Formats: sequence, structure tokens, C-alpha cells
Amino acid sequence: VIKSSQEQAVRVITLNHPPVNALGATMRQELKAQLDHAFSDDSVKAIVLASALPLFCGGADIQEFRTQQLWQSPDLPFLCNYIDNAPKRIIAAINGAAMGGAVEIALACDHRVARRQATMGLPEIKLGLLPGAGGTQRLPRVTNINVALDMILNGNPVSAKAALETGFLDRIIEDDDDFSQAVLAWAEELIENNAPLQRCAQMVVDMQDISSDIFRLKRDDIKQRMPGQLAPLRCIKALEAASTEPLATGLAHEKAFFLELLTNSQARARIHLFFAERAAQKIPDVTQATPQREIKSVAVLGAGTMGTGIAIALINADVPVILLDVSNEQLAQGLQRIQDTLQRAQDKGRLTSTLARQRMALLTSTLHYADISNADLVIEAVSESMSTKQAVFKQLDEICKPRTILASNTSTLDLDAIAAATTRADDVIGLHFFSPANIMKLTEIVRGEQTSPEVINTLLRFSKRINKVPAVVKVCDGFVANRMLEPYFREASRLLLEGATADQVDGVLTDFGMPMGVLSMGDLAGIDVGYLVRQANRSRYAHDPSYQAVQDKLYSLGRYGQKTARGCYRYKGKKKLIDAELPGLCLELAFDLGVQRRKIANQEILERCQRFWISGLAWWPTFLRE
Ligand code: 3HC
Ligand code: NAI
Repeated sequence: VIKSSQEQAVRVITLNHPPVNALGATMRQELKAQLDHAFSDDSVKAIVLASALPLFCGGADIQEFRTQQLWQSPDLPFLCNYIDNAPKRIIAAINGAAMGGAVEIALACDHRVARRQATMGLPEIKLGLLPGAGGTQRLPRVTNINVALDMILNGNPVSAKAALETGFLDRIIEDDDDFSQAVLAWAEELIENNAPLQRCAQMVVDMQDISSDIFRLKRDDIKQRMPGQLAPLRCIKALEAASTEPLATGLAHEKAFFLELLTNSQARARIHLFFAERAAQKIPDVTQATPQREIKSVAVLGAGTMGTGIAIALINADVPVILLDVSNEQLAQGLQRIQDTLQRAQDKGRLTSTLARQRMALLTSTLHYADISNADLVIEAVSESMSTKQAVFKQLDEICKPRTILASNTSTLDLDAIAAATTRADDVIGLHFFSPANIMKLTEIVRGEQTSPEVINTLLRFSKRINKVPAVVKVCDGFVANRMLEPYFREASRLLLEGATADQVDGVLTDFGMPMGVLSMGDLAGIDVGYLVRQANRSRYAHDPSYQAVQDKLYSLGRYGQKTARGCYRYKGKKKLIDAELPGLCLELAFDLGVQRRKIANQEILERCQRFWISGLAWWPTFLRE
């Protein structure tokens, strides 16, 4: 898994353990052995850590987090300290993605060089952890406290360009240069010039010009943005220790926090999710050998809530889009919504005006189906009506070129019935986004009876290209996510009938850690959409007259949620307000339905809603197999 070679005075140690050079026990043992060999060889004046794979290294072996192998000697913290105290100069040659423990190994080296297209990240927070091999102590020393807070708390990789600007990287090598040769030449230069070694134990975190409130302010921000999450708070405490304590003391704090987090249920759940996300993409008849089609242009049908969100997700991923609607007014409103969304991102400093212009330039619109005949992929997001969708797919079948993939964003309609309206059922598939489609990561790839493996494979890769997490599901009621959502949403609505208020129910759920309460989410997705979905399945779910009575009542009053500025809540623009009339409406309904009302404790609300997530999660594999 590791080999080494020598060029004059430079020993190159190359990691070669597909798929990602994960730093499991064997890798760590072999790396230490290679280092010891290089340390004891007087002909070696500098050591280069390199990778034989397209990426550099994916960090610690996450598989080991569920076993004690994580601490099998030499563990990663030891290895980083070993490198940071090496008797010889060590250079990290980052040729591609470097994540987690890989970045920590690089931070312990004296020098860091990367190819222009390489990325570097500390994603531990996404696993409910913190960088546990020195990242919280070395990154702020090598760069600065603000860079370290940002990188560790958001967990997203940064480009080589950004890493050079922050001081993480010493040098970038252009992609078309011979990376290995350029690194060797630089190593010789460092030896020649006897360049100073970077040893973190001699470095301190520069806190000049940094407000003494920085950590308190960060904690307040985290408590707002990530309520209930433990890892971000421990990241801040570890970085606070880095700013005041010597390296060895800070490392001890970091290790204690890492051990605390590793045994916490939040980390266990997130580590499960890491592997579950990948397992959901493993399809028996879709393998590496399965071909895929090139997607150069996409047509989106329907400029409504979903169509516009999908169009934004596509242009954000540099995919050209033709947005079609049959209503001029809807199309105009849809284009305006897209423009407004990009403007809001610019106002928040998340998007430059140049990038916004480039993205809008990828978007064209039309009222005519003839204009989309050459699209490689059509994503249909028209109204949730089987007759409408069948008519649309019949039309697409007639006008689109052969091998165009026809995808429906239907929430729960039978995809096979939609495919039956065409002569190309093997090219018909479901691509189910979640509202808001430009934000939510999950896409359900719904395979019909006749959907070909090539089409499934194409959309699996396309979903990842547009930064979504795909899960392949079969045609069944609600697919997976909405099937899990149904009992959860039903219970929350039932609690309103029994005496809870909307903000009490949603408050319990967000305090638990849900990003949004399910009643607020229903207002966002559209009470009308939920009603139409229920109509298609009422016989299956409505086991008593009180089933979703509140949601049905709101629908009958034309209160569709955010889109009509009133649902469970009232809305002034994006601002959500309590609707003082809702409790009275629920009281009347309860009386008519003979439902007993009482004061309901928060704990009961959590237990009754939580019960459905757990059953839903337990059933997930069943849904996939169906
Ligand atoms: N450990 C174990 N397996 C890993 C892994 C890791 N760190 N990273 C990826 N894998 C596995 C995946 O599960 C997948 O396995 P499969 O083929 O059996 O499904 C395979 O490697 C390929 O993964 P991807 O499909 O994600 O490959 P990509 O090429 O798309 O992406 C990557 C490569 C950027 C490395 C991406 O896999 C990634 O971001 N991985 C997670 C990185 C991470 O979280 N590292 C931190 C670990 S925690 C840590 O380092 C603790 C330290 O601070 C002490
Ligand atoms: P919407 O009502 O907001 O938008 C539908 C759009 O389709 C309208 O602009 C309408 O003018 C247009 N349209 C109607 N017939 C058309 C045709 N023949 N050709 C082209 N355009 C046509 O609906 P929404 O909420 O965007 O839903 C669209 C689809 O997405 C539905 O199938 C829905 O079930 C599904 N969906 C909705 C979600 C939500 O949260 N709203 C979530 C996931 C899927």
C-alpha cells in the first residue's frame, strides 16, 4: 500500500491504497516504517509524501471508527506528532483531494505543495467529530484563527488557490506541469537553500488584532445555526485552547474532545449516514462497466416552485438549462424568482456578481416544446396530475431526439404509468428533488420497470455532478422519503387536533435538531401539493376521519402555505408569523370529530414524532428493495 523511491537526496514515499488511501492501521504502520527507514538513511536529506492515486488521501479510515483499530499503534495523532518532530525535512505533495487526517499529516510536514486542481478540507464536523490528529492546533498556527474557525466549522474543502492565500500551501504547481518532477526540483531547492523547517511546537497562534470575543461570538452563531450539535462547540473549544496553550497541551484537549464526540450518538448517526449515502447508490445491475450518456443540455418543464428550484441547482453546477412553461405569466414569475434567488446570494456575499451573470447566461426560456427537442435530458416538473404528465410525456416522446432521457419530478405518481405514454419506457426515469430544490441535497432516482441501467447510471453521475446525493428507489407509494414523511407529518397534524400549537410542535422538533419543523416544512412545500398527494392515496392512509383533518381544512380555505402567505402560519414575505386563528380552527375540528383535547407535554410531542423517523429509517432498506 506504500512504496518508496529515491531521486538523489530526496526519498519519495508514495501512498497507493485504492480507493482513497484511507489511513487505516496497515497504512499507518507502513508509513511509519517508511519514515523510519528514510530517517536512518544518511543519503536522504528530504522526504516527499506523495500519492499514486488521482487524489491525495481521504483521511482516517472511517470504517475504523466503529472498531478499536482507530487506536492501533501508530495512531494518527501519534503519526502527525512523529512527522512534526522528524529529524529530516518532510514535504507533502498534494496532487488531488486531501481530506481530514490527510490535511493533518500535511500540516505536520515542513512544507506543502499542491497541484492547481487539488482541494483540501477538514470535514470531520460532518461526521459529528473534530479534526483529532492535530488539525485544531496546527491549522491556526500555520494559517490564522479565522481561517481555522471557518474551515473546521464548515467542513468544506478549499481550492489550492485559496489554500495558498491563507498560507496553508507554500506553492502551487500548474496542472500541465509534470507534478512529480516539479516537486523533486523544489525539494532539491529547499535542501540547497537549507530552508527553515516548520515545526508547530515553536509556533503560536497570532491573536493580535483578533477580538477577545471571537470565540463567544462564534459559539452564539453556532447555537443559532446548528442548534443541539455538540461537535461545533468542541471545535471552538479546541481552537480556543490553540490560541492560549502550548501545542502539547492543546493536543491533549483536542484528543479529549475527539474521544467525547466519537462515543456520542450524533457522531454515530453521521458516520452511519456517510456509508448509507454511498450504499444507496449501489445498484446490483449498475456497475462500473455500465455505460452512461453525456448530458450537455437540460430542459426543465414547469417554471413553478420546483421547476425554478431545479433550474437554479443546474445553473449553479454550470449546466445549461432551457426552462419551459405553457403560461407566459408563470414563466415570467419563475424567471424573476431565479433572478431574486441569485440576487439574495449576492447580497449575502455568497455569490459574486460575475458568477451570477455567468449562471444567468446559462438559462434560456421558452413557451414552445419545439425548442427543447435537442435536450439530452428533460426534467418534467409540471402540475401533479397524471393526465397532464402523460400528455407531456407523449409530446416529449414525439419531439425529443432519440436517447433523450425523460425524467419526471413527480412526488408520488406511478412512473410506469407515465412511461406507458411513450414508446421509450427504457429512457423514462424519476428524478425526484425536494423543496427547495436548489438547497436540498437528496434526489430520489426512481427506476421504472423498464428503465435501463444505462439511464440509471447516467442520472446517478449527473446527480453527483449537480452536487446532489442520489438514492435509487423503486416505484412505490411516496418512494422512500415521502413514505417516511407521511406518518411523521400525520402525527404532527394530529397533535394540533389534540391541543398542541403549531409553534410548540415545530419548536420541539427544531430544539431536537431538525433544521425545520415539519408543519413549517408543509407550508414551504405547499399544502396544495400535500393535499393532491393525499387524494391519490387516501384509501391507503386515511384509517379514520380525523386523518390530516387540519391540513385538509386549510386546503379547503385556500391556505396553501408560503405560496398564499398563509397555512399553519401567516407569512409576510419570507417572515413566518403565528396564525392566532389556527388553534380555534383546530378546536372546532376536534369537536366535530370527537377528538379529546388536552395540554400536551413537549416530551410527548418528541416521542410521537420521533417514533416515525426511527421506523422510517429502519424500513429504508426495505423500500430500496421493493
Ligand atoms: N474512510 C473510509 N472509506 C472512505 C473514506 C474514508 N475516509 N473516504 C471515502 N471512502 C470510501 C467510500 O465509502 C467509497 O467506498 P465504496 O466505493 O465502497 O462506496 C469509496 O471510498 C469512494 O468514495 P467516494 O465515492 O466518496 O469517492 P470520491 O472520489 O467521490 O471522493 C473523497 C473522494 C473526496 C475522499 C470522498 O470520499 C470524501 O470526502 N471522503 C470522506 C473524507 C472524510 O470525511 N475524511 C475525514 C475522515 S475523519 C478523519 O480524518 C479523522 C482525523 O481527524 C483523526
Ligand atoms: P407548481 O404548480 O408550482 O408548478 C407547476 C408548473 O407547471 C406551473 O408553472 C404550470 O404553469 C406548469 N405547467 C402545467 N402544465 C404544463 C405543461 N403541460 N407544460 C409545461 N408546463 C406546465 O407545482 P410544483 O410545486 O413546482 O410541483 C411540480 C411537480 O413537482 C409536481 O409533480 C409535484 O408533485 C412535484 N414536487 C413538488 C414538490 C413541492 O414541494 N412543491 C416537491 C417535490 C416534487
